[in-house]
Amino acid sequence: MLLRLHLIRYIAANIVRIPAAGLWMNSRRRYILACVTLCLALVGVEPYAAAQAATADSPHQSNQVAHPSNAQLADPKIEARVEHLLRQMTLEEKIGQLVQYNDTGNASAAQTSGTPPAEDKPGAMDTLNPVSANHVNAMQLAATGRLGSMLNTVGAERTNTYQHLAVDQSRLHIPLLFGADVIHGYRTIYPVPLGLAASFDPELVVAVSRMAAEEASSAGVRWFYSPMVDISRDPRWGRSVEGAGEDPYLGAAMARAYIRGYQGDDLSKPGHVAASVKHFAAYGAAEAGREYNTTDMSEITLRQVYLPPYHAAVEAGAATIMSAFNSINGVPSSANPFLLSKILRGEWGFNGFVVSDYTAVMELTHHGIALDPATATRKAITSGVDVDMMSHYYDTQLPELIRTGRISMNVVDEAVRRVLRVKFATGLFEHPYAEGVEVTAAVAGHRPLARKAAEESFVLLQNDKLTDGAPLLPLSPLRKRVALIGPLADNAEVMTGVWSGVGQDRDIITLRQALAERAQQLGGTLLYAKGTEINDPSQAGFPEAIQVAQASDVVILALGELSSMSGEGGSRASLDLPGNQQQLLEAVVATGKPVVLLIFSGRPLVLNWAAKHIPSIMEAWFPGTEAGHALANILYGDVSPSGKLPMSFPRAVGQEPLYYNQLPTGRPPTGIDLSKPPVGDSRFVSRYIDLPNSALFPFGYGLSYSSFSYRDVKASKTSIPLSQALANRSTPLLEATATVTNTGEHTATEVVQCYVRNLGASIEQPVRSLKGFERVTLLPGESKQISFPLGFNELSFFNLESSPTIEASHYTVWIGSSSLASQEASFVVVSPTPDGDSR
Ligand code: BGC
Repeated sequence: MLLRLHLIRYIAANIVRIPAAGLWMNSRRRYILACVTLCLALVGVEPYAAAQAATADSPHQSNQVAHPSNAQLADPKIEARVEHLLRQMTLEEKIGQLVQYNDTGNASAAQTSGTPPAEDKPGAMDTLNPVSANHVNAMQLAATGRLGSMLNTVGAERTNTYQHLAVDQSRLHIPLLFGADVIHGYRTIYPVPLGLAASFDPELVVAVSRMAAEEASSAGVRWFYSPMVDISRDPRWGRSVEGAGEDPYLGAAMARAYIRGYQGDDLSKPGHVAASVKHFAAYGAAEAGREYNTTDMSEITLRQVYLPPYHAAVEAGAATIMSAFNSINGVPSSANPFLLSKILRGEWGFNGFVVSDYTAVMELTHHGIALDPATATRKAITSGVDVDMMSHYYDTQLPELIRTGRISMNVVDEAVRRVLRVKFATGLFEHPYAEGVEVTAAVAGHRPLARKAAEESFVLLQNDKLTDGAPLLPLSPLRKRVALIGPLADNAEVMTGVWSGVGQDRDIITLRQALAERAQQLGGTLLYAKGTEINDPSQAGFPEAIQVAQASDVVILALGELSSMSGEGGSRASLDLPGNQQQLLEAVVATGKPVVLLIFSGRPLVLNWAAKHIPSIMEAWFPGTEAGHALANILYGDVSPSGKLPMSFPRAVGQEPLYYNQLPTGRPPTGIDLSKPPVGDSRFVSRYIDLPNSALFPFGYGLSYSSFSYRDVKASKTSIPLSQALANRSTPLLEATATVTNTGEHTATEVVQCYVRNLGASIEQPVRSLKGFERVTLLPGESKQISFPLGFNELSFFNLESSPTIEASHYTVWIGSSSLASQEASFVVVSPTPDGDSR
């Protein structure tokens, strides 16, 4: 019964949770979650058992780590202020700092600016406000020091209203921290993170993140639930769109860039925000690409593939981390001492605070590792989850847990210290309110960066020569009549992608708008037909589309996914173009007109048919506010495409998870034509009988309007003593170099990539791994030598004892324009072994 009451309360909370300011697109999936939970409650899932036997606190790492990850948080002046404040706090006030809720959802500023409503008094808000439906009133809590932070409460008026309650009315005047899912822009929307990763341009990501922080902090938001640094090797997982794709090296570079952009060199400076790195850990490895699903992997894979981006973010000083929904090797991440205490705080010296993902503490009961809220709470907080986002557990359970001695006050104190440190470091006590001019409209000055970011994110997948010997792109102005066809040609909403801050459709430049401007400038004509909807079987729009195509000199087809088909709760079992877009594509191609295909998607799609029949294909992701202008600039050749794929594009969904840096097999299909069914022994290798193993478009791949050649790939040393390799962990051991030449006719940017393979060590290593990249802009005919320093970080691997190490072994280095780079050099790490074998 208790369970049912509890669940029904939770359901009520979720069903009515309609976030403020149109910031989130989550209400639908939360509605579904709530309904599922309701069903469980109604069919009578096991009642909560009596509290589990009391246990002593599990080891809780102290914040006083030897090498704190964020020096600002370790400042003794801050420490003194934290201790001074902590000494004055009651248990209720301490717990308050560990509690996070969203806002009242429907309260107007007039309603909220006055006295907080009386506790437990039912009112209009109770029906609409998930928090009060949970018998919690966020305003009341703020005014009485029982709320530490808020999520997705944005806007200067709204945040200031809450802040006044906390600062003016609560006994100790501790300000609230306002967090929000600003992941690729606040009002100005940049490409989705997967698109930003395709730029291979960390400096761009720094700039974009800084702008987002400036805009959002003007609205009172001082904390971003970003970056999402989960490695994703399986595009069925919808949240691939929120991260940097499949590669740990690229993922780590992007993670560092976001932290630099958000936090700068000082968390307290105006326009800087605290980051929350998510979702710790390995959420991207959800089995079968299914959202919220379990992950299970070896510790070596965890450390070598999945952890590096989180580690990089922590090393860069990330102030907070979000614990993930998923379990890993049987232990939920939000109650996982191995992840949160041993690795995060113990090994990495993380001295910020950990916030749970949304209701993740409550979900520990669904994971089956806690039979009741008290146990879930105890397990979460003693594992290292400091702040409870929305579970309504810490505030309801901690008082009794402390009273009965099931956890000690020390555990609570430690968590409170961590939260207060961030509040002091961000300067919240000095500047609690949104100050300055709030960004409430599109910022003209930020558009050029949004355009540049989008231009860099596009990946040209194919640009075959036509019969006249020239490729279709860049478009010739002589093709005067341009047919623009497709459900994404004029769709502002989809251009902003998922978690699009407070971005507004009216700010978006669609492709149709931008191409109409071009047509006017060039004296051409733009013909337009929508053709079909993204997810609708009707072919009613096909005849018009075909007519428009027939009347044109060139067709631009804008197809892909709705933005809601990726992101949270956006897992797909198919990677095909949704709806009847494939049929539209085939019908348009059948007109015989030359076609440029633009794909908008939050993940790699299967594009086999298109790759066979369409000369020019470009992946555009969801490009943001300046979508149309950026696309027009690329299509007409003002800028040459330079993006490279951060995830492999498969030939079939059945290949997933498909990633370039796979481990070797004992039966590699070397020298076998995998496009043909096996004959005889060609069967008994690691292969499919019906498809090649390889990606259709692999990681790191992307074309330009120019072409590049590589020569002189060299390693500066051919042999390195093992003792030297192990002794020196901070400076490079050697350099790999190559000369790249622009052999085409356009000034263009190439992303030069360096891959490494290690052979002969005690643990098998990937067939190749990215260990360096650099964007280089070259004039036609121009050459440049590029060097990649290789040191312990690039050459080491994790051994069975979970330690990074280097062994006497061989290394091959490739430098080139994708993960298929073929020009190589090699070197060895040598050690005289006892039997005299010097490898
Ligand atoms: C998501 C997080 C997000 C949080 C707050 C969760 O459902 O998994 O990524 O930061 O909600 O909105």
